[in-house]
Amino acid sequence: MNGLEEGVEFLPVMNAEKLEKRGPKRWVVVLAVLSVCFIFSLLVGFLVWHFKYRNASVQKLYNGHLRLTGSRFIDAYENSTSSEFAILARKVKKTLTDIYKNNPNVGPFHKETVISAFSEGSIIAYYWSEFSVPKYKVDALDKALANIQASNQATIHRGRNPDLKVESVVAFPSDPDIVKASRDNSCRYALHAKAGEVTSFTTPGFPNSPYSSNAHCMWALRADADSVISLTFTTFEVEPCDLGNDFVKVYDSLSPGEPHELVRLCGSYTPSYNLTFISSKNVLLVMLSTDAKGRYPGFKAEFFQMPKQQLCGGVLLGTSGNFTTPYYPGHYPPSIDCKWDIEVPKHKNVKVRFNEFFLVEEGLQLSSCPKDYVEVNSVKYCGSRDRFVVKSQTNKITVRFHSDRSLVDTGFWAEYLSYDSGDPCPGKFTCQTGRCIEKKLRCDGWLDCSDGSDEKGCNCTETQFRCHNGWCKSNFWVCDGVNDCGDNSDEQQCNCPAGNFKCSNGKCIPESQKCNGKDDCGDGSDEGKCDSVVTVPCQGHTYKCRNALCVSKTNPECDGVQDCSDNSDEDNCNCGKRLFVKKSRIVGGEQAEVGEWPWQVSLHAKDEDNGHLCGASLISETWLVSAAHCFQQQNFVRYYDPKLWTAFLGLHDQRELSDSKVQRRNVKRIIAHPSFNDYTYDYDIAVLELDNPVSFTKEIQPVCLPDASHEFPAGKEIWVTGWGATQETGSGASILQKAKIRVINQTMCNSLLDNQMTPRMMCVGVLTGGIDACQGDSGGPLTSIEENDRMFLAGVVSWGDGCARRNKPGVYTRVTQLRNWIKEKTGV
Ligand code: ARG
Repeated sequence: MNGLEEGVEFLPVMNAEKLEKRGPKRWVVVLAVLSVCFIFSLLVGFLVWHFKYRNASVQKLYNGHLRLTGSRFIDAYENSTSSEFAILARKVKKTLTDIYKNNPNVGPFHKETVISAFSEGSIIAYYWSEFSVPKYKVDALDKALANIQASNQATIHRGRNPDLKVESVVAFPSDPDIVKASRDNSCRYALHAKAGEVTSFTTPGFPNSPYSSNAHCMWALRADADSVISLTFTTFEVEPCDLGNDFVKVYDSLSPGEPHELVRLCGSYTPSYNLTFISSKNVLLVMLSTDAKGRYPGFKAEFFQMPKQQLCGGVLLGTSGNFTTPYYPGHYPPSIDCKWDIEVPKHKNVKVRFNEFFLVEEGLQLSSCPKDYVEVNSVKYCGSRDRFVVKSQTNKITVRFHSDRSLVDTGFWAEYLSYDSGDPCPGKFTCQTGRCIEKKLRCDGWLDCSDGSDEKGCNCTETQFRCHNGWCKSNFWVCDGVNDCGDNSDEQQCNCPAGNFKCSNGKCIPESQKCNGKDDCGDGSDEGKCDSVVTVPCQGHTYKCRNALCVSKTNPECDGVQDCSDNSDEDNCNCGKRLFVKKSRIVGGEQAEVGEWPWQVSLHAKDEDNGHLCGASLISETWLVSAAHCFQQQNFVRYYDPKLWTAFLGLHDQRELSDSKVQRRNVKRIIAHPSFNDYTYDYDIAVLELDNPVSFTKEIQPVCLPDASHEFPAGKEIWVTGWGATQETGSGASILQKAKIRVINQTMCNSLLDNQMTPRMMCVGVLTGGIDACQGDSGGPLTSIEENDRMFLAGVVSWGDGCARRNKPGVYTRVTQLRNWIKEKTGV
């Protein structure tokens, strides 16, 4: 026991201390472990970065073309399923692969190459190549491929044939989506132009069924060597550009590379929009790419081949003449240069007037014109420009035109004219810009020269106000809220004292009362345009939501912003939109385009004339708005009888009443305003019910009706349309006409028109005369373009003192005043 006891070593009391002393050692261990962990994770992190990110491979796609010389093109090469195609493709592919292999920045990353097409010209081979390359090597690969064309010339041994030489290898980085599309063989077409024939093609299913979603279709168009292709889209209707991502691209190549893209099209184009494109060589590629949603009809196109010739530029002699970019008004071809040397008789000077000018490249700004341009007197012009004149101080001038290889437009048409340097505009006034205008336009109070030089240095008459800039303006325009002088001097002395806000009615209120939710002006103008829309007490000029609350904003209906708490201001907004988005740029005179005024109706009466008598506007599938005076008994003809009338909708040309786009309806009911006064023309409004609803199409759409509170301020530009007489004593137009006019201040108009104005009337016109509605336009729409390009019916053509006379604006029924009556009668 003892021995045992001896053997037992009792822990001294101090041991407690010893135990404690072990603590710090453990910390060291923990620390060590932690550091190891840290270093380890750092290492792992690095390795992950190295292998996963730094070394992470990215897919890169290039597409390009190369030329083969030493052999003849055979037709079978156009068919990618032929054995000849396969044999040649294999060889070209092998050569390309070899070229890649010889370059250390390319070879190791090459995954796949596909030869997609051949075209004639010795032989052009189109291909795409796929690479899988670590991120940090991408730049080197880009560079290597950009230079590959210069450094390589290879020879293909082609069986018994003479050696095939590979030249000019070109590669562009390309969009994987597009290459994926070219891989998709389900929607590919190869078409070869037939000599002397026009070949047409359409999107699959056109026009009976819409194109499919997620489609990638390609049409390879070819022509014989030494010809070029002219391609025209005769109908074009794909998803609107802002609604999705469906588009058509045309390439001046058979491979869809951005550098050869001629155009990107989306939306729908009016039939008169010129969609003709010319290739620079004998191929074009058309691609349709669609997204998951939105199904539209698609397009119909036709193409033909024509001999390639340099048909631009040259020497132009004589005293005057015309010249245009090649194929104008079609799109000019890419990659061309033209030079016109113009020379007029010795003792004369020469000027060039560009009447139409479109060299627009999307997203490009105009100052330096780095791409397509026109150059005259060492100044470059590009973009889209209004008519302009360039003069020479001698009898010679040179005009150059350059188009680069991508993105084309319709170009220009220009005139050259010789003139006497002493008298540049014989019998006319010369603007400082060089333009000649009629002498009577000088000092008439209106700007006719774009720089206003026709209104400089004039003596103002006593009925005119002298602007600070020297222009003379009718006294009527002073203090009407519209800046007529251009420098605002006609509105200045009517300004309120500093710190005040000027109401539309002329009243001055302290600035602090603006946008305070209270109508301090009395006409609401201090609350109409505020950052925040507030609910205000309802008054005549405020907009009333369905929940009977009124909002402060002016014209809140259908402006795309919810202003009423119940959103009723954005209800029933399926109106006032044009469905053709792209308008033609070149229209004769003031002819309307198809689909431009889809609410315009032509009313034909079965009287002795049996033709167009009045206009009207479509406001729903069954209701029209027109003028009451069209439906009064006259010379024993009972125009108030609905059976007498036929309504034509979707009509463009009166000679084409049976066009397939036209819908013809009988009139079931005519309700003229009971207060219509056939002496004063007060309350000149009527609504007509159709016997059957029309169906809305691109050519037939309803116009929006403005709320009773809607404002069309003086000075606002508005459009009037109709088939009425084009001159006071003239006859009606067969093609729908349009004219842009301005709202005229009511007080002033009343004095111009011998106090014949009532609150149900509004004056709209151009006081210089020359632009107006006329006989036969009655009942037709006065269309105002508001927020978001939505169009509202501001007025109905009613009467005038003659047509287009100076200081005799046209008079229109004020729709806002009769809005509630329309609602009551039609429910619209
Ligand atoms: N009352 C005419 C008609 O029946 C319309 C006159 C419009 N005149 C004018 N100058 N704006 O067609």
